[in-house]
Amino acid sequence: MKIERVSPFEKEENLFATDFLKSKLVAFKEIINDPSSGFFHLPKNEELLQSSIELHKKFAHITEFVHVGIGGSSLGPEMLISALSKNKTNFTFINNIDPERISDQLEKVNIENALFYFVSKSGGTAELTAGMSIIINWLEEKGLSQDQWSKKFVFCTDPEKSILLDLGKQLDIPTLSIPSNIGGRFSVLTPVGMFPALFAGIDIKQLMQGASKACQYCLDENVENNPLLNTASYLYDLKNFEINQTVFMPYSSKLRDFCFWFVQLWAESLGKKNDLQGEEIFTGLTPIPGYGATDQHSQMQLFMEGPLDKCLLLLEVENFNTDYKLNSSIDFPSFKKLNNHSLVELMKAELYGTIMALKEMGRPFIHFKIDQNDAASMGELIIFFESLTALMGNYLNINPFDQPGVELGKVYAYQKLEKN
Ligand code: PA5
Repeated sequence: MKIERVSPFEKEENLFATDFLKSKLVAFKEIINDPSSGFFHLPKNEELLQSSIELHKKFAHITEFVHVGIGGSSLGPEMLISALSKNKTNFTFINNIDPERISDQLEKVNIENALFYFVSKSGGTAELTAGMSIIINWLEEKGLSQDQWSKKFVFCTDPEKSILLDLGKQLDIPTLSIPSNIGGRFSVLTPVGMFPALFAGIDIKQLMQGASKACQYCLDENVENNPLLNTASYLYDLKNFEINQTVFMPYSSKLRDFCFWFVQLWAESLGKKNDLQGEEIFTGLTPIPGYGATDQHSQMQLFMEGPLDKCLLLLEVENFNTDYKLNSSIDFPSFKKLNNHSLVELMKAELYGTIMALKEMGRPFIHFKIDQNDAASMGELIIFFESLTALMGNYLNINPFDQPGVELGKVYAYQKLEKN
């Protein structure tokens, strides 16, 4: 991955000084070597990868993959499938509790060839439980006995303590593991993402190779060139200038769902009330999803001329594996302008236009380039952005791996159910 960081602000030199970057590399190593956070070591976890490969063999005939989960238990696989799916397996993501949507989704599922994959780290999330009840009732209405529907189920959960684990044992349902030290939003490289990826024909070994490559350069001892440390310093520097919104904008439709994965990772990890000493700081970097060129006709006006509080992360795919010529027999000026060009050239010209305009408007941005939208690049992006999130937690002096703020709403929701 190539990275160019452009900032119109005078940077705080200390944040980029060799000694400071070295201290942040030490801090990053402490984070990833802490037994409570395991995401960085997943590319080396052959055994975990193999568990998905083995179980996939048993269900290889499946053509309908129904994934049930919410938040980190769904966003990773969703973005992998939309970016990289290579075969005709039909994927359905039941990732919300909207009855109309679920009804539409189930209507399209061909039960005979279907596998239902229930993913929940904790195992007891209300949305997951509701989805499972609905699916079991629906299958029973269609005439399937418990013995029949349970053969179409696979679970994925914490291997030590989880209701889903217990239920899997009771019903003899194959259960894949999400290691206890991996939180939902950092779990895409576990069976949460790898098992569905296999049904989509994604080369998960290549994905892990890309991830390993990112692991190497995130630990580059040559700190002046280390992209992880410099990007974190850059974003932290901008935060001191009140640039506290992060727009993630790939120039690719296939990477659009990657934005939503990033949004959860960034928001849930960095938005915190308390710092590590327990002081109230109400911090965070607000993520905004976008995608080019479409958002040039939507949000870009705000990004260019609105409040000076955003940094754009632009992601360019250098090589698309297909293209269209834009030559046309229609003799109108708008068509003539495109003659002798291709669709990829138009996409690149639009990205170039955005970059030039951002520079002229004094708006900070980072320009990331991946060679192509493939499994290796995806693995690289995943580890890079997970690492960046974890390290930003250190810069902001907060815990990026918890989410105490989401608990309060859950308490009230259950109270409401009890009252009714
Ligand atoms: O990142 C997280 O930890 C959360 O977004 C969870 O993934 C989400 O709340 C779902 O939890 P669970 O996987 O336990 O059902």
